[in-house]
Amino acid sequence: MAGAALRGCPRALPLPLLLLCAAAGSLVGAQVTSETKQVPENSEVDIPCTAYKYSMSNPRIEWKFQKGTSLVLLYYGNELTEPYKNRVQFTSTNIRFSTVTREDTGKYICEVVDGSSQISKSEVSLIVQVPPSKPVAHVPSSATIGSKAVLRCTETDGSPPPTFRWYRDTMLMPSDPKTSLTFRNSSYTLDSTTGELTFEPVTSFDTGDYYCEASNNVGSPQKSDTVHMEANEVNVGGIVAAVVVLLMVLALIAFGIWFAYSRGYFKRKDTTSKKVIYSQPSHRSEGEFKQTSSFLV
Ligand SMILES: *[C@@H]1O[C@H](CO)[C@@H](O)[C@H](O)[C@H]1NC(C)=O
Repeated sequence: MAGAALRGCPRALPLPLLLLCAAAGSLVGAQVTSETKQVPENSEVDIPCTAYKYSMSNPRIEWKFQKGTSLVLLYYGNELTEPYKNRVQFTSTNIRFSTVTREDTGKYICEVVDGSSQISKSEVSLIVQVPPSKPVAHVPSSATIGSKAVLRCTETDGSPPPTFRWYRDTMLMPSDPKTSLTFRNSSYTLDSTTGELTFEPVTSFDTGDYYCEASNNVGSPQKSDTVHMEANEVNVGGIVAAVVVLLMVLALIAFGIWFAYSRGYFKRKDTTSKKVIYSQPSHRSEGEFKQTSSFLV
């Protein structure tokens, strides 16, 4: 009994810690071991089930694959499920992928129930390595001095998730602007994990050409396109745009009214009678002109 309860606890621990470890193990009812494994894309991969022990009598093994919030059965009822049949080999101690793609990144959970209904569980977080793709720098073209501006760098392929760096006018921006002669007049914070560069407040020194760079431990770092940001006293661009839009709307309304008026949508009866009056003298004048001209010839 004691041996089973102590399973998974390092025997080298001092006795109080050993008892604590055993208590924690029996509380969750299962000893969970977890590890992380990084492999290149398209390589062959072994994922061990450390929960399985040769000493187990009549063990029942289940494999699950967890990615985000989805959980998929991989091995169940003594067989591999459909999407894995052709590319995975099963043994009691491990599963082997003949080749992995980026879609296989996620957590592989092995659960073993032995004859005496003891459950043990082990997890492997698999990261299929993918180099970062070209990131996109989201930079506002203008920012108001004294306000806050957030620049974002995004990248979707990299695995493990890349970290980000920012450059202004090809100069690497240090995480603390005060440490640099070039950036000491700026006030910003950098988050290398999310890729966010926050100016608070924006100063006139923050005008420049910005790009960001994404890198992980695979392949070479990737740079975004360069985007210019202009720090303005007031949001001149915004005001100009608003005025232009307002003028266009007013012009459109004026044109609409003129158009409706000229087509006679207002005071319909009056305009039809006027038309008749107008058309008669015009015909007459044409006729008069012809007569005059023929008379002249
Ligand atoms: C920082 O500000 C000081 C004082 O306004 C100015 O003399 C200096 O040139 C600025 N430094 C940079 C790098 O723009």
